[in-house]
Amino acid sequence: MRRIVYLSTATKLMSDAELMDVLRVSRGNNTRDEVTGLLLYQGGNFIQLLEGKADAVATVYARVEKDPRHHSVLRMLDGESTERLFPDWSMAFRPAGGVTAQQRQEIAEFIAKAPQEAATTSGRRALRLVSSFVESMR
Ligand SMILES: Cc1cc2nc3c(=O)[nH]c(=O)nc-3n(C[C@H](O)[C@H](O)[C@H](O)COP(=O)(O)O)c2cc1C
Repeated sequence: MRRIVYLSTATKLMSDAELMDVLRVSRGNNTRDEVTGLLLYQGGNFIQLLEGKADAVATVYARVEKDPRHHSVLRMLDGESTERLFPDWSMAFRPAGGVTAQQRQEIAEFIAKAPQEAATTSGRRALRLVSSFVESMR
């Protein structure tokens, strides 16, 4: 299986209705494609984990990457995985208000360090960040 975490910037601030629209389409497609993951929306940035069979993840990432609702898509982790972090979620979602103070801090640090760390994509910080949501989405 393949796991991708990327960071991107929303083209404009997203309303709740616009976010729900993204989620509705994503959940429909991802259920069909057996892709699971997590979407965070925080201060005009998206952080998304996509996980599943390698070809399915490649296809959905290629689609998402060129979506005009966001830009500056930076891959922060891209690797093999043996298990899914969010097996029960076609796309788990956390809006800005839905994170703990510590998660907010981790997200801020993740975004601040992204330009340097994207070049390496060892993805340790990205993995730690998305993993910190696993428990709370159960
Ligand atoms: C931040 C963000 C995350 C997205 N995540 C997904 C996703 O997980 N799965 C998906 O199919 N589409 C996702 N999309 C939407 C795709 O870019 C694209 O609009 C959609 O897949 C097209 O689906 P359709 O051909 O069924 O209309 C996302 C879009 C944005 C802006």
